[in-house]
Amino acid sequence: MLKDKKVILGVSGGIAVYKAVELLRLLTKAGAVVHVIMTRAAREFVAPLTFQTLSSNPVHTELFNLISEQEIGHISLADRAALFIIAPATANIIGKLACGIADDLLTTTVMATKAKVLIAPAMNVNMYTNPVYRDNEERLRRLGYLFVPPEKGELACGWEGEGKLAAPETIFEAAVAELTPKTLTGETVLVTAGPTREEIDPVRFISNHSSGKMGYALAREAQRRGGRVILVSGPVSLAPPPGVELVTVESATEMREAVMARVGGCTVVIKAAAVADYRPLEREQAKIKKQTGELTLRLVKNPDILAELGRLTERPFLVGFAAETDNLEAGAAKKLEEKNLDMIVANDVSQPDAGFNVDTNAARLLFRDGRMVECPLMSKKELAGLILDYVTAECSCRRQR
Ligand code: C5P
Repeated sequence: MLKDKKVILGVSGGIAVYKAVELLRLLTKAGAVVHVIMTRAAREFVAPLTFQTLSSNPVHTELFNLISEQEIGHISLADRAALFIIAPATANIIGKLACGIADDLLTTTVMATKAKVLIAPAMNVNMYTNPVYRDNEERLRRLGYLFVPPEKGELACGWEGEGKLAAPETIFEAAVAELTPKTLTGETVLVTAGPTREEIDPVRFISNHSSGKMGYALAREAQRRGGRVILVSGPVSLAPPPGVELVTVESATEMREAVMARVGGCTVVIKAAAVADYRPLEREQAKIKKQTGELTLRLVKNPDILAELGRLTERPFLVGFAAETDNLEAGAAKKLEEKNLDMIVANDVSQPDAGFNVDTNAARLLFRDGRMVECPLMSKKELAGLILDYVTAECSCRRQR
């Protein structure tokens, strides 16, 4: 979403300036063309050379610098921006913006821009709660400025409380969300992700290699596109995307309960979870002792959540996943039909770069009307975007019918 987008990163003076370096790295890694403006105070904390090297663009510092004004003036800088981020934003810079003071390059460029401005404040907790500051923030919010609130924690000044600059990943996510067209506004999207664990005894379980990466990428992308997102997740080691409603479960039975309790309000359900098909007939209360001979486990079938959703009379748009090691297309088409789905994402998990536990995937999308779309090897993030493009298109066709 940020590829080739022009972003201005305004950096004002506070101890958190070093975190803006990490934010810059995230922005450039995502393909954004970043121009950094630093205030005089910011330059006391980190040298402009760091920002210049990482942005591959000259850092802008002075309003009345003849050379940089000739090369790219502050007005043309302001005009070019798709998004303006100020991180960290001090109480001083926020106060100046709220009052219309434009006395340096950063405040002047903000004043001249038509782009959305995303402000990430960082300051001492008493400054943050000061009524003067609160008034300034309120005024800017009313005028359409966006804020990424600071976090609570130990502050550099020794105080505890709100005022710590939001994590670079959080500011980055807010920037991406701001630049993503809101094609899923009004939709409630439930995504299931990760494996399930079927307990054998207090210390052992049956599970699979699912990492949850595909489901989490889908949840993150749906959230960025303006959907209300519920993520029902089995045990994974991923951080939930900001803004999604996370419901954690362990077993297939728990996942079923979580999904069925929420499906009523959903318009789209994407079942990316690798649900265990079987569970032990009984979970032993005590740890099973090692025996000399063989140990036989009796397994019973788990509920097929997706098939149950397919049988609902008023059902949401249903997307299933088919992880296969052979007969990929035929197997997926059969599941699409049998489980009464709208779309199925088939992937060959025997390929080294696709399926479980990797960051990439190659898939085929199959639809009810027999259409098939081949998706070559790409990142799970990209595939999530592509899947949601089709979900959006299909949902709007369905609404028009
Ligand atoms: O039939 P199979 O398990 O291969 O189908 C995979 C699809 O069905 C996935 O979307 C998975 O999340 C879903 N599923 C389910 N409940 C199960 C097994 C699979 O919802 N018990």
